[in-house]
Amino acid sequence: NNLKTVFKDAFYIGTALNVAQIEEKDKIEVTLIQKQFNSITAENCMKSMFVQPKKGVFDFSLSDKFVAFGQKNKMFIHGHTLIWHSQLAPWMEKITTKEEMADFIKNHITTIVTHHKGKINSWDVVNEAVNDDGSLRNSVFLKTMGESYLQEAFRLAAAADPNVDLYYNDYSMTNPAKRAGVIKMVQNIQAKGIKIDGIGMQGHWQLESPSIDEIETSIVAYAKLGVKVAITELDISVLPNPWELQGAEISQRFENSPKMNPYPKSLPDSIQDKLAKRYAQIFQLFEKHKDKISRVTFWGVHDQQSWLNDWPIKGRTNYPLLFDINLKPKKAYFEVLKTKITQ
Ligand code: G3I
Repeated sequence: NNLKTVFKDAFYIGTALNVAQIEEKDKIEVTLIQKQFNSITAENCMKSMFVQPKKGVFDFSLSDKFVAFGQKNKMFIHGHTLIWHSQLAPWMEKITTKEEMADFIKNHITTIVTHHKGKINSWDVVNEAVNDDGSLRNSVFLKTMGESYLQEAFRLAAAADPNVDLYYNDYSMTNPAKRAGVIKMVQNIQAKGIKIDGIGMQGHWQLESPSIDEIETSIVAYAKLGVKVAITELDISVLPNPWELQGAEISQRFENSPKMNPYPKSLPDSIQDKLAKRYAQIFQLFEKHKDKISRVTFWGVHDQQSWLNDWPIKGRTNYPLLFDINLKPKKAYFEVLKTKITQ
C-alpha cells in the first residue's frame, strides 16, 4: 500500500522536494517519493533569491528540473512561492519606491508564471503576508506599495496563466485573529473581481496544538469563501516549542540543551505512539472534509531532511514526518493508512 493510492479519491498527497531530491541524487529516496506521493512542491528553489538573483536576470535551471521531475512522474505540480518577504535576493530588499516595487512584482510574476505556463498546476502567489494578530505584515511590499500589492500579485498571476490555480499560503492559520485577518484579505481580493482559487494552511503543528477543533473551524471558515483549501507544509514537531518556554527556561530558547533536544538518538516509543495518534486524528479530520481539501502536502519526505532539525536552533533532532532517517515508514505512517481503510 501507499499514501497516494489510499487517498486517491480524497485529495492529492504531496511532499516538498529539496535540490538533492530534484536532482535524483539518491535512487532509494527517489523511489520512495515516486511510490508514495502524487504531488510535489519545491522546498526552496522557486523562491525569489534563486529565480531572480539579479535584477532582470532569471535562472530557471532548478525550477525546470523540478517541473521535469513532476511531469515525468505524472504528478500535480505546485509552485512555491512568487511573493514572499523571506529569501528575497539582496537587490529586492533595497527597493524603496512604489514604482520600483510595482515594476518588480509585475516582471517577477509575469516572467515566472509565463515561463512555467501549462506545466504548473497551482501557485502560492503570496506567502505569509498576515501577522498573527490579523494585521498585514510590514514587509518591503507593504511598505512600498500598501495593500494594493496583494491584489496586483493575484491579478498579474491570473493574467499570465488563466488556467493555473492561485493560492494564498500562511502558517498559524488556526489562530482566530489571524484567521479573521486572512479572511478579510481574501474578501478584499474577491471584491475587486480578482481570481483567487485557494488557501494554503501550513501544517507546521505540534503534538498538542492546535486542537483538532481549531483546525476544523479554520478549514470550514476558509472553504466558506468559495475557495479550495490545501493543507501545505505538514509536519508535526515532537520537540518543545521554544516560544512557549516560561521564566528561567527562556534562556535555553536558542541553546541546544537536553531540554531543547531531548531525543538525540531515537524517539521513545511513547512519543512515537503519540505522533501516530496525532497524525491519525488529523487525517480523519481531512477525510471528513475531503470535499473542501484539494491537497495535503508534507514539508519533506523523511526525518533526516526536515527543516525542523535546524529551526529555531541548529542541530536539534526532530521526528516530524511519516518516514524515519532510514526512509522506513514509522508507526504514524501505518496509522494514517489505517484511518482510510477502517472508514
Ligand atoms: O543554499 C544555502 C547553501 O548554499 C548553504 O551551504 C547552506 C548552509 O546552511 O544554506 C543554504 O540555504 C538554506 C536554504 O534553506 C536552502 O537549503 C538556508 O540556510 C536555510 O535558511 C533555508 O531554509 C528554508 C527556509 O524555508 C527559509 O526560510 C527551509 O529549507 C525551508 O524548508 C523553509 O520553508 C518555509 C516555507 O518556504 C514557507 N513556510 C515556512 C517554511 C519553514 O520555514
